[in-house]
Amino acid sequence: MVASLLSKAQTYDHALQERKEFPPLLKGKIVALFFFEASTRTRLSFELAAKHLGATVIDVAPNISSLKKGESLNDTVETLKAMKTDFIVMRHHQAGAPHILAREGFEGIINAGDGMHAHPTQALLDAVTLRRHYGSLSEKKIAICGDIKHSRVARSDIKLLIHLGCSIRLIAPYSLMDQNLIIGNVTFSCDMQQGLKDIDALIMLRIQNERMTSSLIPSQEEYFRFYGLNEEKLSHIGKDVLILHPGPVNKFVEIDPKIINHKNCLISEQIRTGVATRMAVFDAMRGNGS
Ligand code: CP
Repeated sequence: MVASLLSKAQTYDHALQERKEFPPLLKGKIVALFFFEASTRTRLSFELAAKHLGATVIDVAPNISSLKKGESLNDTVETLKAMKTDFIVMRHHQAGAPHILAREGFEGIINAGDGMHAHPTQALLDAVTLRRHYGSLSEKKIAICGDIKHSRVARSDIKLLIHLGCSIRLIAPYSLMDQNLIIGNVTFSCDMQQGLKDIDALIMLRIQNERMTSSLIPSQEEYFRFYGLNEEKLSHIGKDVLILHPGPVNKFVEIDPKIINHKNCLISEQIRTGVATRMAVFDAMRGNGS
């Protein structure tokens, strides 16, 4: 299933590069975007993906929906079902919210990020991006650096990249680490210089200020000094090491903006790949819509 999704995404990516027309696989289908948290990349790439495949896209916009009048999530989904919605792409601050709706019997739910739990399509697009450069990811050493504790991207990346044969090194201050993630081929270093040794790729993470209940770092300047990626730290790692970041980037907190233009930095490739990956997800699920 994962292998076929990844190669489908690669095929869609080639076609998008060539600005090809796509067969309207989702013609007559309705896709609802249901985002309770802010998003640019994920929301717009799901919208583009659905439109490229011929779907009608509606935006539920929780802030101006009847959720504001106290209507429940379940009743909102029932309303969408009554309108013959086939897919609901959901981002929610609560871990497990999309899963609960799927359990209620709505088959076309797609998780676009739930709390600190998971961001499955980000992991898929990260894997597609890395595979474009490496082919197989078997035996690749991937470091994930930053706010591991609050990161659904880290949790989903770890799961998928381990499945694809990678080993993972987590780099974070203890205050932003989740020790439960250190199992099997996942190791941890609180020292960034040590953690960056002998790696093939580095995934930098965003500091998730919106999820912190108290200040877990002394200051952004100090965090940047110890865990931010700058040209000096980059000069100590292999010249072919690929750099990823899910975005949005906090400049001079986790990354020096100069790095964004480095030839090995794949941030804009990740954004591009997001559209192709989400097309592959719709394509794979098109038999499942409600
Ligand atoms: N990577 C990611 O989820 O970005 P957005 O929050 O902009 O969707």
